[in-house]
Amino acid sequence: MTKTVNGFSKLGKQQKIKWLADNYSSDPLAVEQVFAEWQHANEQTQKIVDGFTENVLANFVLPYSIAPNFLINGRLYAVPMVIEESSVVAAASSAAKFWLDRGGFHAEVLDMEKLGQVHFRWAGQPEKLKSLFAELLPHLHAACEDITANMRKRGGGIRDIELLDFTALEPNYYQLRASFDTCDSMGANFINSVLECLGSALESFFTHYPGLPDAERDVEVVMSILSNYTPDCLVRAWVETPISSFEELARQQGMDAAQLADRFAAAVRIAEIDPYRATTHNKGIFNGIDAVVLATGNDFRAIEACGHTYAGRDGQYRSLSHCSVENGIFHFELRVPIALGTVGGLTALHPLAKCSLDVLGHPSASELMCIVAAVGLAQNFAAVRSLITTGIQQGHMKMHLTNILNHLGASEEEAAAAQFYFQNQTVSFSGVRSFLESSRSASMMAE
Ligand code: MEV
Repeated sequence: MTKTVNGFSKLGKQQKIKWLADNYSSDPLAVEQVFAEWQHANEQTQKIVDGFTENVLANFVLPYSIAPNFLINGRLYAVPMVIEESSVVAAASSAAKFWLDRGGFHAEVLDMEKLGQVHFRWAGQPEKLKSLFAELLPHLHAACEDITANMRKRGGGIRDIELLDFTALEPNYYQLRASFDTCDSMGANFINSVLECLGSALESFFTHYPGLPDAERDVEVVMSILSNYTPDCLVRAWVETPISSFEELARQQGMDAAQLADRFAAAVRIAEIDPYRATTHNKGIFNGIDAVVLATGNDFRAIEACGHTYAGRDGQYRSLSHCSVENGIFHFELRVPIALGTVGGLTALHPLAKCSLDVLGHPSASELMCIVAAVGLAQNFAAVRSLITTGIQQGHMKMHLTNILNHLGASEEEAAAAQFYFQNQTVSFSGVRSFLESSRSASMMAE
């Protein structure tokens, strides 16, 4: 155990890098150089990033892209996306363009309710607790008044507090389940502060309530924390068009438009009935959702966790999107809970997140929910459209060609020649390597 360290967080950045390089790297000088290269040129900006988490050594860069031409609820957006996967932005942009001439994306927020829980144990009879709850409730609200004052001024705050009895599953276990409106903020800090306050107020209520036997004075708060499962922070996005819209695409595949629309709907139904396919199908949706969520400084782990739980809400994991073809009309819809914010958190701190919100026209949280859901649906549309026609690899490998060329150290001329050559060829790593090898040996022969 020679490589343990005490007080690592107190060391300066250079000391941390040196310690890491000396103790954990096979090539300390190279590691130090890489970390030196991945600092922001502007010291002030680097300071902001260094403040985000503990023990920051460098910046891990992901591409920041734009998917233009997104028509959502009649308004045009150029949508920022942060994602490393080669074909995602191209797919989103192509779906946006396709729907631009077909009425665009429609989206509506059904509700924006956030949730949190105080998990506690109490040894009395459940009926007694339920009968005390009417008296407890105003005490709980009053205890949190200071913390909720600002949010109430903005039109939000605590919506409701319920008492839930889980004693049939775990001895003496109950919950206070609180619902919140956090307006344009994601609200995690607000909710957690309120929940901790509710926990203390619960304990003090039982400590001071007149006439209780000693055994019933003890409330044990096990934990107080928001729930990332917010099924009623829900948005739906949809597109709709006569199936004749698919004529050209269908013709390229030797089908008619009705066959293509039918195959599309079948592909979505498969993701509704088979969890193996549903997982990949929903992953495609989150390619779009996460990319916008990251670009706007929101918490993509929270949003993914929630989306996946929602996808399994009836006991089986299913597709988050649904498709119907009725009376010649193709309707494709995504319903997904997305709890995000456009004020507070990283949204105001990260310079690129600020820039994203500016580019999007400073949306409210509900408008951003609509944008994110529309991009998720676009991504899903593009993926399924490829899967049921050309297959996914054609587009994906075309975009991946640049990565392969960079990996193989292609010069600008070689890369241009390869891009031209592979326009009509299947891209593979070995194919690109052979192409480079033969063009290199041809030019050596020529010299
Ligand atoms: C790849 O990142 C996402 C897809 O696999 C999604 C899908 O299969 O629907 C293409």
